[in-house]
Amino acid sequence: MRVGLLTGGGDCPGLNAVIRAVVRKGELVHGDEVIGFLDAWDGVIAQRTMSLDIRSLRGMLPKGGTLLGTRRGSPYDVPGGVEAVIATFADMALDALIVVGGNGSLSVACSLHKEFGLPIVGVPKTIDNDIEGTDWTFGFNTAVQIATDAIDRLHTTAESHDRVMVVEVMGRHSGWIATHAGIAGGATVILIPELPFDVDEICSILHARHERGRYASIVVVAEGAEPAEGSMPGREKVYDRFGHVRLRGIADLLAPEIEARSGLETRVVLLGHIQRGGTPSAFDRVLATRYGVEAIDAVHDGAWGQMTAIRGDHMIRVPLADVAGKTRSVDMDLYRDVASVFFG
Ligand code: F6P
Repeated sequence: MRVGLLTGGGDCPGLNAVIRAVVRKGELVHGDEVIGFLDAWDGVIAQRTMSLDIRSLRGMLPKGGTLLGTRRGSPYDVPGGVEAVIATFADMALDALIVVGGNGSLSVACSLHKEFGLPIVGVPKTIDNDIEGTDWTFGFNTAVQIATDAIDRLHTTAESHDRVMVVEVMGRHSGWIATHAGIAGGATVILIPELPFDVDEICSILHARHERGRYASIVVVAEGAEPAEGSMPGREKVYDRFGHVRLRGIADLLAPEIEARSGLETRVVLLGHIQRGGTPSAFDRVLATRYGVEAIDAVHDGAWGQMTAIRGDHMIRVPLADVAGKTRSVDMDLYRDVASVFFG
C-alpha cells in the first residue's frame, strides 16, 4: 500500500519513534511504501513530502521533536484546503493516511473521514495526556520526568532560602502533568484546571506547614489552573491564530498574591517548552513504538476513522468520532485520594 503519514499540532517526544515503527513494520512486514508529509496539513495541501524508509530513520528513535516538522492549523481554515487534501489522495494514489496528532488534528481526521470517506487512521499525541479514549499518550511520561527533575532541584534552593517556589507546568485543559510531577516531586500543593483554587486556602496550607517547622514549599500549578471566583483577579485570555487559548503566566499572577497574603518570600519558575523538548524517556519510546506498529496494522485491517489507543496494557482502537472534541480530565481519585494526602 502507499501510506501517507503526518505529524500535527505541538511537537512531542516520541513522534520520531512512531514514524520509525510505522515505516519498519510497513516496509518489512506489509511491503508498504510510506510517504511523510512535511509540516502537518500544510504538506498534504501543498503535496510537500519526503519518502520514508528504514534507512532514512536510522538513529531517530531517541530524538525528540519530529523529523517531518509540525504545525497547528486545519485544512478547514484554509480556502480550498479540504479540496486540496482530497486531490492529494488521488494525485499521489494514497491508499491511507496516518494522522499523528492532538485534539485538533484528530478532529480534522475525523471530519475528513466522516464527510468524504477518506481512509484515515489516527494516533493520539500530546504531552498533556488529555486525549479521550486512551489511558496514556506518549510524551507525557517524558514531560513528567522533566518537571519532576526540575522540582527536585528547586527543593534545595527553596530550603536554603526558606522560600515558596511556584512552578508552572504545561496542561492547558487538564492537570495530568501537574498531578503526576507534583506527587513525584513532593509538592506542597498542586493546582489543576479541573479544580478552581482559592489563594487563602493555599496560604493556610503554607502556614500550617510553617508551624510544623517546614519553611520551604513547592506549589505546582498547571498553566490552565484558574482561581475560584472572587479568590484573586483572573487573567485575560489570549488566543493564538488557531483559536487555542495561550495560558502561560498563571504562576506570575499567583506568586505575588501568595507573598502578599502569607508574608512568605515567593519565586516563580515557568518550565514551558523545556517539558516538550529533548529525548523521549524509555517508557515513551516503547509506547510510541507500540502506537506506530498498531497504526500500520490498523491500516491493513482497513480500520478507517479509528484511533489507536492503550487501555491497561493492551493496544486497542476507538472510533475517532468518540474522541474528537473531547478532553480527558485528570483522574480525580488520584488527585483527591493520593495527591492531596501530601498537601501541606
Ligand atoms: O501540546 C500541548 C501543549 O504543550 C500545551 O500544554 C501548551 O499549552 C501548548 O501545547 C503550547 O503550545 P505552543 O507550542 O503552540 O505554544
